[in-house]
Amino acid sequence: MIDDKKVVFSGVQPSGNLTIGNYLGAIRNFSEFSDLYKCFYCVVDMHAITVRQVPAELRRRTYETLALYIACGLDPKKNTLYVQSHVPAHAELGWILNCYTMFGELSRMTQFKDKSAKHADNVNAGLFTYPTLMAADILLYQTDLVPVGVDQKQHLELARDIATRFNGVYGDTFVVPEPYMAKSGAKIASLAEPTKKMSKSDENTNAVVYILDSKDDILRKFKRAVTDSDTRVVFAEGKDGINNLMTIYSCFTGKTFDEIEREFDGKGYGDFKLAVGEACADGLAPVREEFARLMADKAYLEEVMKNGAAEASYYARKTLSKVKRKIGYTSL
Ligand code: TYM
Repeated sequence: MIDDKKVVFSGVQPSGNLTIGNYLGAIRNFSEFSDLYKCFYCVVDMHAITVRQVPAELRRRTYETLALYIACGLDPKKNTLYVQSHVPAHAELGWILNCYTMFGELSRMTQFKDKSAKHADNVNAGLFTYPTLMAADILLYQTDLVPVGVDQKQHLELARDIATRFNGVYGDTFVVPEPYMAKSGAKIASLAEPTKKMSKSDENTNAVVYILDSKDDILRKFKRAVTDSDTRVVFAEGKDGINNLMTIYSCFTGKTFDEIEREFDGKGYGDFKLAVGEACADGLAPVREEFARLMADKAYLEEVMKNGAAEASYYARKTLSKVKRKIGYTSL
């Protein structure tokens, strides 16, 4: 608890252009917590370097991700918005937790297996211990709730296991965090292969709708989206493409699947895809506008980063000192 409020923490990697998966599964939901919880939202640049990055692009995307947080409704006065590498406590606790995380546990992480297959020439130790750093991010703030998409569930379970293990050895030290997944949108699929998640690192840019895509691009991508040989807009087993489009449409319009089925009863996939594209483009238009305005004001973004890092450091250091004392480090 901080100031009698429960704590929310989440992070996004500045490792590519953010997608509507990142938006609907995570960022859009962040602002729901701003009033009732103490919220920390981090741009996790330390995680991003587990895959080789072009330095200038990483720097630009770090600003962009912060600007997108704000453009998606996060008020820096109500939320602590900051960049991970500006708060060294993440690296320090990450190291300590490495010593309380088993090789076998890390070997079982599906994201590690996927990423090491994809980047076979760069299976570095950071990629392997990525989930321990993620646990450190969360546990540093005594986090109660972590809003994430379904793909992060396994990492979160590991964070819970690490916290429980540490508490078991040293007595209550960390709050054991709970995941929060949106009822709809926690798993947005690729438009080209609807059994796979939509991913910012997908090489097929037609499979991915980016938050900052133009309306024309959005309409074109949805028009090309893979569906099935049926013609009815209904949510059903085996209709992964249509189910995904219905989920996206529902997220942007607030309509239930029943309402959507009725709306498109007797109409074809063409009409439906156009409606999904329109709803998505219209929903994102204000985000795009606000993003452009913020990116033109670097000084403001830097001020947000600075204030956020100072505030986050304050709370992070409290947990870190407690941990250091418990494990037997000396202090000066
Ligand atoms: P990242 O940067 O890959 O994604 C950011 C958030 O977006 C969600 N997401 C999706 N949700 C629904 N459908 C999709 N297709 C989709 N793609 C991505 C992710 O679940 C995530 O919530 N390891 C994390 C970053 C991180 C973190 C943390 C998150 C580092 N430390 C501590 C929470 C707490 C990651 O790579 O997210």
